[in-house]
Amino acid sequence: MIKFTIITLFKEALEPYLKTSMMWKATEKGLAEFDFVNLRDFGLGPHKSVDDTPYGGGDGMLLRCEPVFAAIESVKAKDPDAKVILPTPVGEIWSQELARGFASNSGSRRSRPSPRGERANPRAAALRNPPNSDANPHYIILCPHYEGYDERILSIVDYKISLGKYVLTGGELPALIIIDSIVRLIPGVLGGETSAEIESFSDGDNLEYPQYTRPEDFRGMKVPEVLLSGNHGEVDKWREEHSGKAE
Ligand code: ADE
Repeated sequence: MIKFTIITLFKEALEPYLKTSMMWKATEKGLAEFDFVNLRDFGLGPHKSVDDTPYGGGDGMLLRCEPVFAAIESVKAKDPDAKVILPTPVGEIWSQELARGFASNSGSRRSRPSPRGERANPRAAALRNPPNSDANPHYIILCPHYEGYDERILSIVDYKISLGKYVLTGGELPALIIIDSIVRLIPGVLGGETSAEIESFSDGDNLEYPQYTRPEDFRGMKVPEVLLSGNHGEVDKWREEHSGKAE
């Protein structure tokens, strides 16, 4: 069982997705658990404030240390081994390889992530600790909102993860993408045990080959003959030839 505790101000943005399709199935099968902590509950003063203006001036508000530390410590008080993930544009770029490493802790056969990304991007310090090695890993995902966060928050973070070279308004979408890409790799979540293995990116940078289902002829667009032939050797060869490469 893999557990994610999501610290957010916007649970309503995350919950519907996690209660749908494969994520819901994973929960129902007892393979994954999703929990929420409302950062506002740890806010300061009568307005339960969680942000403030930056020292030195500048636009926008920053997430403050006190509510974030209190929220994370409330989770760690119950599970000291839980590891903290921070979605941030300055983190290590998320990849299938990293997702596989996180999923591998949850009973999967797959290996841990290689440290390649860490060396390629020393700023990230994202994987300064390897993912949890126990069979029941627990990840706390802190979803910043507003323009940024106090740098000292990084001292309580284990993995800084970026979804790409663009800036989003908060960590909620990255949290869902990180969770989805990990949970779907856990054996038993997807229908066919091999579907996660053969699909895009599972084999290095190989992209999945084109696939077709009925009808054989749709508005003049025909399914390649070889796929209808029943000749598995030829089908494999065709698929190999038609697998794309990531850019
Ligand atoms: N928060 C804002 N932008 C982000 C990005 N590109 N990746 C991860 N977290 C983010």
